[in-house]
Amino acid sequence: MRILLVAPPGAGKGTQGALIANHFGIPHIATGDLLRDHVARRTPLGRAVQDHLSRGELVPDEIVLEMVRTEFIAAKAEGGGYVLDGMPRNITQARALYEIALTLEMTANVALHLKADDEELTRRLLARATLEGRSDDTEEVIRRRLAIYHEVTHPIVDWYASRGILVSVDAVRPVDRVARQILTALEAMRPLIDHVPEHVRQPIDLTGLGAAFGQD
Ligand code: AP5
Ligand code: MG
Repeated sequence: MRILLVAPPGAGKGTQGALIANHFGIPHIATGDLLRDHVARRTPLGRAVQDHLSRGELVPDEIVLEMVRTEFIAAKAEGGGYVLDGMPRNITQARALYEIALTLEMTANVALHLKADDEELTRRLLARATLEGRSDDTEEVIRRRLAIYHEVTHPIVDWYASRGILVSVDAVRPVDRVARQILTALEAMRPLIDHVPEHVRQPIDLTGLGAAFGQD
């Protein structure tokens, strides 16, 4: 499986990304984690991006694209599957990532969109701040991260819908319920995705499924 997670801060990219990666035995590539690791190790790259991260601004596209190219090459050697968490963040990254993946024959077969409202996201991130102390989990920076998401990241959801690979899930439910729905959908798609070309696929919206069965 080759999966992109497209979701706002706090929607559960890290949480669900780890569960999906574990389920399918594929690498979980999280650009935020990779960048924070550089910052913690005080590498030249870490020093260059530290300010962007603590202000909640996006780091330059070429930095993350190069980072992900390296991770994709490693993932290819392990079988070619991946869950990419935190990228793409804007349409430039989406198109460039597509080109990189095309060259490596690793284009995504699912773009998983985790939907959640800003109030819930803010609540989660402020709760995490007391536990993990991430430098960008302050009220002001959370507001900035959400604004960037709405302005430049969310519009790429439509691009994935038009490519037919979008799967939307309601992420404002307990972690295990969200995970169960994602894994059930991915398992149902697994035998089909490599045989059905993108252009005949349609976006899948699972956000109403729970409510339809009184499960909210
Ligand atoms: P990144 O690390 O990607 O952060 P983010 O997008 O802000 O998202 P988070 O990691 O905060 O949230 P998440 O969606 O992973 O949710 P999680 O599972 O942790 O990016 C950080 C920064 O790096 C960016 O601001 C930018 O500077 C830079 N960057 C990264 N990628 C970049 C790129 N491609 N281009 C440019 N710059 C880039 O969950 C959040 C909390 O909620 C946790 O405490 C969790 O336990 C809890 N939770 C999760 N699911 C649920 C649930 N269903 N119910 C209740 N609680 C839940
Ligand atoms: Mg994360």
